Amino acid sequence: MTNAPSPASPELDDVLARHDHDPTRLLQILIDAQEIAGWLPAPTLTRIAAGLALPRARVEGVAGFYSFLYTRPVGRYRVLFSDNITDRMLGNAGLLDALCRKLWLEPGKTSEDGLVSVTTTSCTGLCDQGPAMLVNGRAIGQLTHRRINEIAELIRQQRPLDLWPAEYFRIDDNIRRTDALLGLDMAPGAALGAAIARGRDGWLDEMRASKLRGRGGAGFATAVKWESARNAAGSAKVVVCNADEGEPGTFKDRVLLNRYADLVFEGMSLAAWAIGASEGFLYLRGEYRYLRPQLEAVLARRRAAGLLGTAILGETGFDFDIRIHLGAGAYVCGEESALIESLEGKRGTPRIRPPFPVTKGYLGRPTAVNNVETHAKTCLIALHGGAAFAATGTAQSTGTKLLSISGDCAAPGIYEYPFGVPITRILEDCGASDTQAVQVGGAAGVCLASYEFQRHIAYEDVPTAGAFMIFDGTRDLFEVARAFVHFFAHESCGFCTPCRVGTSLLKGFMDKLADGHGAKADLNDIDWLDRLLKNASHCGLGSAAPNPVIDTLQKFRPAYERRLVSLDFKPAFDLDAALAEARQLTRRDDPGAHLKTHEESPE
Ligand SMILES: Cc1cc2nc3c(=O)[nH]c(=O)nc-3n(C[C@H](O)[C@H](O)[C@H](O)COP(=O)(O)O)c2cc1C
Ligand code: SF4
Repeated sequence: MTNAPSPASPELDDVLARHDHDPTRLLQILIDAQEIAGWLPAPTLTRIAAGLALPRARVEGVAGFYSFLYTRPVGRYRVLFSDNITDRMLGNAGLLDALCRKLWLEPGKTSEDGLVSVTTTSCTGLCDQGPAMLVNGRAIGQLTHRRINEIAELIRQQRPLDLWPAEYFRIDDNIRRTDALLGLDMAPGAALGAAIARGRDGWLDEMRASKLRGRGGAGFATAVKWESARNAAGSAKVVVCNADEGEPGTFKDRVLLNRYADLVFEGMSLAAWAIGASEGFLYLRGEYRYLRPQLEAVLARRRAAGLLGTAILGETGFDFDIRIHLGAGAYVCGEESALIESLEGKRGTPRIRPPFPVTKGYLGRPTAVNNVETHAKTCLIALHGGAAFAATGTAQSTGTKLLSISGDCAAPGIYEYPFGVPITRILEDCGASDTQAVQVGGAAGVCLASYEFQRHIAYEDVPTAGAFMIFDGTRDLFEVARAFVHFFAHESCGFCTPCRVGTSLLKGFMDKLADGHGAKADLNDIDWLDRLLKNASHCGLGSAAPNPVIDTLQKFRPAYERRLVSLDFKPAFDLDAALAEARQLTRRDDPGAHLKTHEESPE
C-alpha cells in the first residue's frame, strides 16, 4: 500500500521544487510538507521519496526520528506543554490537566473531531518565564489558569493563532546582568572589518591569544578547532552555528539570537574568514522556530550591506553566506556529529569519531561547529584583541560566561559574569534564599549541595554550558533527578544498546523507588548502570544520563532511602497487590490475608 502511486499535490511539488529536490534538504522538506495537512500522511512520504529518488524507508526513518514530525494525525491545534523540572515546579501538570478537562480531551490524545491535541515536550528554553507551551510551534510563556481558560476558549472557537492576543506570544529576554558581551554596542561589520585588516593569519593569532574555549559545554579551544579545519584537506569548508540549545534549563542562546543576532552571524563570518569557509549553517532548534523570520531579516540586511555574499567588505575571494536549518525536536541533534547528520537530511544519529567534523563533517567537508555564544564572543576578540579578552576570567577559562538562571529565585533570567564567579555571588544576585541545591550545566551537568556553594564557575572547577537551576529547601531532589532520567530515556536516539536499554532501566529503577517498591539493592544496581552507561555509550548523552542520579544519591541520600521499602529485602514488584485476585477468589480481605509490610514486621 505504501508503494501505491500517491495522488498529485501541487503544494507538495512546490515544497520539493523550493528545495531543489535536494535529498540533503529532506528534513526541511518534511517540515514544510507537514504544513500542508498538519501531519505527514503515507502518500506524502511516498511522493517525497519519489521526488528525491530516495528509498521510501529512508524518508519514513527520518520522519519517525524527530518528535515534531507526525506520521499520524494530530490536532489542528497542537499544544505541547514544556516539561522541564522548572515547568513542573511552576505547576505545568495542573495546567495541562485543566486544559484537557476544558477541551474534553485525554492528555496525549487527539480530539475525535481532529481539532486539538495536548501533550508534553522536553524543555522549550523558556525556563525564565514558565510554565510554557508551544501551540503549532509558537511559544507562550507565563501560563496561568486564567490564561489556560482563555486558550481553551480560543481553541474551541477555532480562532487562528494570528488573532490570539499578541501579549501571549511576548517572550522576554530577562537580561539581568550585562558584562563585555551583552554590553557591547557594535556596528554590524566592525568586528569583521578588524579581522580582515589583520589578515587570516593575524586573526587566528588573536584567537589563539584569547584562549577562548567553546561555550557549548565541552570547552574545547576554539582556535585549535579553527586551525584544524583550516589545515584540513578540501576547499569547500563549512561553518556551523549550533543553536540546538536542548539542554534542560538553558536559554541564553535564545536571547542571543533574539537580541544579538548580528553578533552571532558576524561571529560565524569571523570563523569563515579564519578557516576559509564559503558556506555556513545556523542549526536552529525547532522550539525556536518562531525566531526564524526575524533571523532571516537580519541575514537579508547583512547581505544588502555586503557582509555576506561575494567579496565580503570588498575582500576578493572572501565569499560566504549563511542558511538557516530547522531542527525538529531531538535533543541528541545538539551533539555536533548528530547535528551534521541532521543537516544532511538524515536521522540525528551521532557518528563514530574519528574522523572529527573538522576534517570530515558536512557532506565529508571540513566543518567547524561552534555554539551560538562562542560565535558571538569572537566579535569581542576581533574588536579588542586576544590579550584584552584573556585579561578577564581565570587562567584556564578566559572571558565571561552567560548563565541561564531559573528555578527558586526572585529574578530568573540571563546573567553575564567573568569566569571564576562563586556560586554564592550568583545566588545572591538573583535573589535566591534557602537554597538546597543548584543544578549547573543542565540535566547532564552537576548537582551542587549547599556545602559546595563556595565553588566557582570555571572549567577548572564547575564547568557549564550555562544552565543554572535553583532548588530551595522545599524541593525533593529525588524527583528532580527522576525528571532528568525520564528526559534522557526519552531523548536517547536508540542507536547503541547500553544507552537505549540503560536509560530505560535507570528510569525503571527511579520509578520503582518513587512507587515505594525499592530496596537497597536497587541503589547498588544504579551504581552498576552508571559504570555501564559511562563506559559503553556511543555519545555524550548516554554517558551523562546517570549523572543526576549519582550526584543526588551521593549528596541527598536520605531522599532516596526514605523511599526504600527495606534496606535489605528486594521486592521486584508489589507482592501484596499481586495477591488481590487470590483474596477476591477466597473472599478474604482481613489483615491476615495481607502480607506484612516491613514496618509491621517484628524485626
Ligand atoms: C547530547 C549532546 C547535546 C549537545 N547539545 C548541544 C547544544 O544544544 N548546543 C551546543 O552548542 N552544543 C551542544 N553539545 C556539544 C556539541 O557536541 C559541540 O561540542 C559544540 O557545539 C561545540 O561548540 P563549542 O566548541 O563552541 O562549544 C551537545 C553535546 C551532546 C553530547
Ligand atoms: S549514547 Fe544514546 S544518544 Fe548517544 S548514540 Fe547511543 S543511543 Fe544514541
